[in-house]
Amino acid sequence: LSNGLALTPPMGFNYWNFDGCETNLINETMMMNTAYAMSTNGMARVGYEYVNLDDCWMAKSRDENGNLLPDPIRFPSGIKHLADYIHSLGLKFGIYGDIGTTTCKGYPGSENYLEQDAKTFAEWGVDFVKMDGCNMQVEDMKEAYTDLGKYLQATGRPMVYSCSWPTYAYVENITMPFDYIEGICNLWREFQDIRDDFTEWTQILDEMEDSLPKRSQFAGPSHFNDPDMLEIGNGLESNIEYKSMISLWSIIAAPLIAGNDILTMSKETLEILINEEVIQVNQDPLGLQGNRVYQNQGLEVYQRTLINDSYAIAMFNRGDVQSDITITSDMLNLTNHQNFNIRDLWSHTDNGTFSDTFTASVEPHGTIMIKLSPKINNIYLPLKYRKHL
Ligand code: DGJ
Repeated sequence: LSNGLALTPPMGFNYWNFDGCETNLINETMMMNTAYAMSTNGMARVGYEYVNLDDCWMAKSRDENGNLLPDPIRFPSGIKHLADYIHSLGLKFGIYGDIGTTTCKGYPGSENYLEQDAKTFAEWGVDFVKMDGCNMQVEDMKEAYTDLGKYLQATGRPMVYSCSWPTYAYVENITMPFDYIEGICNLWREFQDIRDDFTEWTQILDEMEDSLPKRSQFAGPSHFNDPDMLEIGNGLESNIEYKSMISLWSIIAAPLIAGNDILTMSKETLEILINEEVIQVNQDPLGLQGNRVYQNQGLEVYQRTLINDSYAIAMFNRGDVQSDITITSDMLNLTNHQNFNIRDLWSHTDNGTFSDTFTASVEPHGTIMIKLSPKINNIYLPLKYRKHL
């Protein structure tokens, strides 16, 4: 969707993955404290920007004029108040709705209220709309998501538009027009809901890689595939696995929406979330989604093309034993035998020169993530500067 927003994958926070819904944890205090924490703990500094609601923020029914209302116990000060506070910290505010009759958890849906809800969101100061797709026929979604997009646009308020349509098409095995959704949404959820489970998210990764049409071709600035939110720090996986997750999510240009409790997370979780060198890959301005380029018995290589003739490479060991993974210039389709500097994005060290091959020993479920940047002697420099080399 060419609305000038989400030029790189959106980064932020959403409570769904750690909180589910129907718990007392969801309330304005938690949202405000989370936003404040993000603005001071380094997350905002590295790009986490959207502080997002998910299901269960609403009152059970609309007001007498059909307007959406927040749950009066969870959000007694109202949504505008929350949005204003988040904006005062220099962050942005995201809301959740459902394109059907009710949300997945039974709160009011936007069917028959698309224009009214778009206006309400704009009045409240919403910057990001996640539109779920429970309780609507997949066949009707093309029209509904298109219409809501027009209404959001018509408010004049810039709002990132996240659409769940492909997830519901996927569940029902209905063909998705990706070249169409690319034009009406900034991001779109694919596949099933993620869980804090290594097998589960690697399956989503496989679906992203193996599904036809090839998903990476539809990604670019303002339009990204969304394999679902991060599970880093939710406690059921090791930090090795969480590092793999954010590495691979960065290679495939996925939105980085932290799905853990920001207020209680460990220092290690925070450090994984705010690894700037990995985030730079995710936020590369070309916005190209990388791909798996090699796979053999659980040893895998992923490659993403970056700006300045550079590449991000993830060497991912799915297996249960420490193993060597080798990348070669043929595998990476770098056939002019150029020399690259090898930068390790987790150890933050330079690691020699790549010309034709590089081997690393990778721990079980771990990822070695490197950036290959052309060596300076590959770059044409006018004569007057060369003597300084
Ligand atoms: C389904 C979505 O895929 C989830 O991310 C979450 O928003 C739930 N619905 C909320 O009910």
